Amino acid sequence: MAPETAGKPGNRAASAAGLWGWINRRLPVEAFLRASAADYYAPKNFNVWYFFGSLALMVLVMQLVTGIFLTMFYKVGAATSFDSVEFIMREVPYGWLLRYLHSAGASAFFLVVYLHMYRALLYGSYKAPRELLWLFGMFIYLALMAEAFLGYVLPWGNMSFWAATVIVNLFGTIPVIGPGLVEWIRGDYGIADATLNRFFSLHVAAVPLVLLLLVALHLVALHEVGSNNPDGIEIYDKKDARGRPLDGIPFHPYYTVKDIFGVCAFLTLFAIVVFFVPTLGDLFMEKANFEPANPLSTPDPISPSWYFTPYYAILRAVPDQRIGALLMLLAVVSFFFLPWLDRSPVKSMRYRGWISKSFLGAFTISFLVLMYLGMQPAQEPYVTMARVFAIPYFAYFWLMPFYSRIDPVKPVPERVTFHG
Ligand code: HEM
Repeated sequence: MAPETAGKPGNRAASAAGLWGWINRRLPVEAFLRASAADYYAPKNFNVWYFFGSLALMVLVMQLVTGIFLTMFYKVGAATSFDSVEFIMREVPYGWLLRYLHSAGASAFFLVVYLHMYRALLYGSYKAPRELLWLFGMFIYLALMAEAFLGYVLPWGNMSFWAATVIVNLFGTIPVIGPGLVEWIRGDYGIADATLNRFFSLHVAAVPLVLLLLVALHLVALHEVGSNNPDGIEIYDKKDARGRPLDGIPFHPYYTVKDIFGVCAFLTLFAIVVFFVPTLGDLFMEKANFEPANPLSTPDPISPSWYFTPYYAILRAVPDQRIGALLMLLAVVSFFFLPWLDRSPVKSMRYRGWISKSFLGAFTISFLVLMYLGMQPAQEPYVTMARVFAIPYFAYFWLMPFYSRIDPVKPVPERVTFHG
């Protein structure tokens, strides 16, 4: 026993007997869990949109674990990568499962993160005081895109090779330094062994570390400002005599149980995909990637994974590659500015008027149509359609300072609406 630390505030377990007390006198495990779960109050009106944060966390862990096991059998190198992946699929016990969990897991990650982000658009969760939380989310999204692209190159299939060629060449559109930068990224005059080796290193070490750090910051920021909710009402504005929000409930056990239910439902659907349709047609893994990389044979069409195709459609909609690349960059970067573009006095779409709802609706449709167009060959009518659908996409962001101000909003209730 160490009496001088036993009664420290916030660390009730420190006075406990046995191993638990011993640990807690040296590391405030229980105090941390208590502060971040049992004593952390979340709005009582969460709906299904609030499943996706915890699901993203679960998929992140799944990707890390399956990735570690895949790395035990994968042999990086232009001469070995493709064959080692085939070896994993055919010879390593349950290697096929590991690979499909990881490859379908990448798609699941984006699906979950897109729904997670969309919730923020629906309920204005990016607005003050959650700007930094949103920015950390956006940096996670960028890191996730980098991670997915780098991982896609590793099996050294033909689509890996050509995707790497197209994407790395985009850096060549940067004035002055572009061509030198492309060579520096590749480490060779074309996508080659050196490129594959550095992409491997970035995919298994550098980017996952950045992702983990960003997710930690995202969660710390979340706990500092508290969760938003479908009504967009700040629950900490109305507290009881003990300082607890009237519309809040302890995260543990209420939302831990709810999130476990979400995880079970997700895993059921995910298992159906992994066991019965692991490539989901051509969506989760393209046929061209089951052929080894071949610089002499270009897949037709070269198309990235579904989660990149909205941006790819915008890139190809412009004949001048430099302007296309800039617009594509803008399409991603626009999300960063949302907290400052949105001038509406209310957060949630529930209390916004028809103008904001129409712009969000048009954006949603354009994102999905652009996703489809990016999977099609770069020919008519797809290119013209991409130009047309890029307009509501950008209008959603860049007209927001105007339409969000004149939108006829409804009165926001004092307390959250909850029908238990
Ligand atoms: C690895 C990826 C991510 C993980 C693990 C993650 C995790 C979480 C968790 C656990 C929550 C609280 C539960 C919830 O609100 O659903 C949350 C909230 C939030 N996240 Fe993420 N997140 C990720 C990516 C993102 C991205 C890409 C964005 C946006 C660009 C984002 C924006 C937000 C916002 C705005 C909230 C607060 C939502 C609200 O309170 O209404 N997150 N995140």
